Amino acid sequence: MKIGIYPGSFDPVTIGHRNIIRRAAGIFDRLIVCVMVNAAKNPMFTLEERVDFLRRVTADLPNVEVDAFDGLLAEYARAKGNCVIVKGLRAGSDFEYEFQMALINRKINPGLDTMFLTAEHQYTYLSSSTVKELGEYDVDLSDFLPEQIISDFKKRIATIRQGGKRQ
Ligand code: COA
Repeated sequence: MKIGIYPGSFDPVTIGHRNIIRRAAGIFDRLIVCVMVNAAKNPMFTLEERVDFLRRVTADLPNVEVDAFDGLLAEYARAKGNCVIVKGLRAGSDFEYEFQMALINRKINPGLDTMFLTAEHQYTYLSSSTVKELGEYDVDLSDFLPEQIISDFKKRIATIRQGGKRQ
């Protein structure tokens, strides 16, 4: 059985991520969406909150499971066995970084492949940061976020506005 691993910060999951998840779930027998740590980012949601969001958004996909891991992706993949990393490519600008990551992961875990799915054209502009910025304004978020998480997302934005903690 071939396992796909779709890693990311998912802070929060967007409809662009959901699109990649659905398509990858159709390719692999089993897809693990894994919330990981990007050391360069200061997340708005805890690892547990991001896992909960992803579980709600993928509840209708029986071969998708959601996990979290705060170590190296290449080591996580090694522990899972027969798997391929899945990443979404939105634009040429993603390529260089993703190419470097794929090579580093393969260096640490020889034989580990990374497969790239091109983002649907209507989602190429999307990123979690853009959505967090939009959340500051009175914008209809249903074009960016899955409906299952919009209310919790807005609550967090309101808490931050009132001077509360980011997480
Ligand atoms: N739709 C919408 N947005 C997308 C997308 C898509 N299809 N594909 C990517 N994005 C967005 C992400 O939301 C993210 O937005 P943000 O920068 O505003 O948060 C951005 O594009 C970059 O995505 P990605 O390159 O996947 O970064 P990431 O932070 O989500 O995930 C990890 C990176 C977590 C997979 C990576 O840091 C990692 O592997 N960490 C574990 C430790 C490790 O092994 N490090 C590597 C060795 S140094």
